[in-house]
Amino acid sequence: EKGGYDYFMLKEIAEQPKAVADTLLGRIDGSGSLTLDEVRIPANVLREVDKVVIVACGTAFHAGLIAKYAIEHWTRVPCEVELASEFRYRDPILDQQTLVVAISQSGETMDTLMALRHAREQGAKVLAICNTNGSTIPRESDAVLYTHAGPEVAVASTKAFLTQLVACYLVALYLGQVRGTKYADEIRAVVRDLASISGAVERVLDTMEPVRELARSLAEKNTVLFLGRHVGYPVALEGALKLKELAYMHAEGFAAGELKHGPIALIEDDVPVVVVVPSPRGRSVLHDKIVSNIQEIRARGARTIVVAEEGDDAVVPYADHLIRVPVTPTLLQPLVATVPLQVFACELATARGNEVDQPRNLAKSVTVE
Ligand code: F6R
Repeated sequence: EKGGYDYFMLKEIAEQPKAVADTLLGRIDGSGSLTLDEVRIPANVLREVDKVVIVACGTAFHAGLIAKYAIEHWTRVPCEVELASEFRYRDPILDQQTLVVAISQSGETMDTLMALRHAREQGAKVLAICNTNGSTIPRESDAVLYTHAGPEVAVASTKAFLTQLVACYLVALYLGQVRGTKYADEIRAVVRDLASISGAVERVLDTMEPVRELARSLAEKNTVLFLGRHVGYPVALEGALKLKELAYMHAEGFAAGELKHGPIALIEDDVPVVVVVPSPRGRSVLHDKIVSNIQEIRARGARTIVVAEEGDDAVVPYADHLIRVPVTPTLLQPLVATVPLQVFACELATARGNEVDQPRNLAKSVTVE
């Protein structure tokens, strides 16, 4: 049942190109328009939405953080992202014009479920992004967009995360399409790029041997730090979460712009720092900023592990280890940049003798608070 792999997690990492393709299947028509009829929230209701609030836990929350960048950019609708466990216990401001998006692989996470109940009580419309047919969260939502990752067995989420990202992009693009936006051309171009993204994920998977080797060489380390900007920031958080849960190492993700506000004090000789570098095209300011961040930490002794787009030469002089990912539109980069971090965490866990599929103290579906 592990299909020849030693662990479910390895199998699920390898299944990501298919999971991504399956989640796109039938949702984009020949003309490049999105056909999300399954989102049974009428277009006029979607046009009136004046705020999107995303609620989720753990890895699904990281997907939500990335969705915020896409939703606000393509639709110009304000979007908040909140941990379900925080949202439900404060007094959030919601009404009929709020679209709440609840993201959950299992569809059974208690905090996410309670958050959506809380939202519906206040008249908000709830759209679930979920991987489990007929589970509680989609049943209690106004509409659901299923991710087609297939069953995810390993406790650490991998393919479900990538498909959550795809679903989030689809929701963002669909909202843009329904509401009309000045980014109509860009949206069409991104929809075209989405069609080839599964192949890009496949290419990343084909080049993971050096990442595994690097992971094994770091098995004795105590700490790994992760830095990113823009959508690379949630990718950094996700890389750190994977490492904590699988390798039981201290790992933290930071927004690179925050370095000087504290985290740079953690940099000491040979501490591994994974840096997710945005594309030098498009938002080149971000790229230049992160290149100087890499220089800053390296000058203080960090061992830099740089995840950068193919052809990005500016990072080469400052990278102790370079992990290449295919060229993608800026907002889609998490779909390729997350994969090496999953492989990295999985290999470190194995090197440290940990149980990969069933990390200590964790459960696949958190149905208690
Ligand atoms: C981390 C992980 C968890 C889940 C979280 C939410 O690898 O798997 O952080 O993402 O427990 O679970 P769902 O998506 O089922 O609501």
